[in-house]
Amino acid sequence: MTDMTKQDQVLIFDTTLRDGEQSPGATMTHDEKLEIAELLDDMGVDIIEAGFPIASEGDFEAVKQISERSKNSVICGLARANLKDIDRCWEAVKHAGKPRIHTFIGTSPLHRAIPNLSMDEMAEKIHDTVTHARNLCDDVQWSPMDATRTEHDYLCRVIEIAIKAGATTINIPDTVGYTAPRESADLIRMLIEKVPGADEVIFATHCHNDLGMATANALAAVEAGARQIECTVNGLGERAGNTALEEVVMALKVRNDIMPYQTRIDTTKIMHISRRVATVSGFPVQFNKAIVGKNAFAHESGIHQDGMLKNAETFEIMRPEDVGIAGTSLPLGKHSGRAALRAKMNELGFDLAANQLNDIFVRFKELADRKKEVFDDDLIALVQDEVVQGGTDVLQLKRLRVVCGTEGPQEAELTMSVDGEEKTIDATGDGPVDAAFNAVKMLYPHNAKLQLYQVHAVTEGTDAQATVSVRIEEDGRIATGQSADTDTVVASVKAYIHALNRLIVRREKTSPGGDRREINYKDVH
Ligand code: KIV
Ligand code: ZN
Repeated sequence: MTDMTKQDQVLIFDTTLRDGEQSPGATMTHDEKLEIAELLDDMGVDIIEAGFPIASEGDFEAVKQISERSKNSVICGLARANLKDIDRCWEAVKHAGKPRIHTFIGTSPLHRAIPNLSMDEMAEKIHDTVTHARNLCDDVQWSPMDATRTEHDYLCRVIEIAIKAGATTINIPDTVGYTAPRESADLIRMLIEKVPGADEVIFATHCHNDLGMATANALAAVEAGARQIECTVNGLGERAGNTALEEVVMALKVRNDIMPYQTRIDTTKIMHISRRVATVSGFPVQFNKAIVGKNAFAHESGIHQDGMLKNAETFEIMRPEDVGIAGTSLPLGKHSGRAALRAKMNELGFDLAANQLNDIFVRFKELADRKKEVFDDDLIALVQDEVVQGGTDVLQLKRLRVVCGTEGPQEAELTMSVDGEEKTIDATGDGPVDAAFNAVKMLYPHNAKLQLYQVHAVTEGTDAQATVSVRIEEDGRIATGQSADTDTVVASVKAYIHALNRLIVRREKTSPGGDRREINYKDVH
């Protein structure tokens, strides 16, 4: 890696586990959060925003354990502008080698109106809360939420107060994805020029993607002097999401001629973390997504394929291996042994423990019996499926038989374990998937509405595995599920059951007396 001076270094602040996890349905389990934090740390992320410790016991424990296990990354927790939030945040992050408190308040007229604070009252609150955070921790980040819709004079005034009170990083959030590249740059430039003390802190950019400009806005802010980009893997996040980590990092790498800034990210780890975040969050990556989409390096048209064969640079501005996509390698088959499977898994970025490898090997053999060639994508789908089907889940698929064909109604006979008790039922429906879903609902009655049902073939050929994604909603709670199988109906039922299991966990967390409180961002008192 090239030597980085302070001027050309851009810090990568990843908020997949906080802002990303906030997106409806993307809730991750404790172990999933620890795994993603470890991957982020290993890939060279400078700062990991690990969660919102006051939100629940679960969030607190996750931030605390991520802090305890951290290696090189700074571990940051989020806190609203009140002393209780900040104290709780510190209790969680203080275990890190490099802890950070990130506290924020909405400064735009719309946001000031909600706690009904005057400009002066809010300024005083900012002074008090940042001072309190700085007395606990040497590394304090402060954010004026909705900065891009805050009056410039007021923004300058409150940033100056935060700097004087001890903030070391000033983050400028475009909370509703409203700004555009030129305006994003002008704002950062104006703040650096006008705010006394601006040269003593790092300015960060935090962009949402409502108008599809998050990555462009973040890069424009860097060109104007911001030296920290806030982002998430796959651009995960509320509504249209956030700046995508892989996009900013690869843009800075590929166009270093015009944007001469460096990051510490090991780009060869991008693909693996992207797949893991897609699986654990239940948000599949769209096929044509930049860098990490399935088609990002696929060349369909004759002209493109011809050009690629003659010289890959004709149609590729980066090499697949730069982002960790393994070169074409031979598929495995039913004669492949455990050692070949282990080697392939390592090549794909999965570091499996001996017992995990054994489980995957059994499933690989089953798959190889049904499918002539087992490709890399098949194996990735298999590992991801293994991870999402937990042995302790309330609902588990035991057996499924369907009758389908031109004469309806189609039928499904389903055996499912519900809280440890095996139950069987017959159901009919408009097609085998509908019949099977009706059967699930009869064995486990619920009011969740199906919002999304999506099927994709993992590879080519009629024996390809299908990956199915399902999203359900019940009383405002959203849960997603995914599964893969060569039998599309089986994959569908497993994905549906996976979503229901996640919903059950969410219900427990958000019920009165349950773990997670609904977070009110405006609750500053
Ligand atoms: O988008 C936003 O304003 C945020 C803040 C909490 C920093 O995520
Ligand atoms: Zn945000």
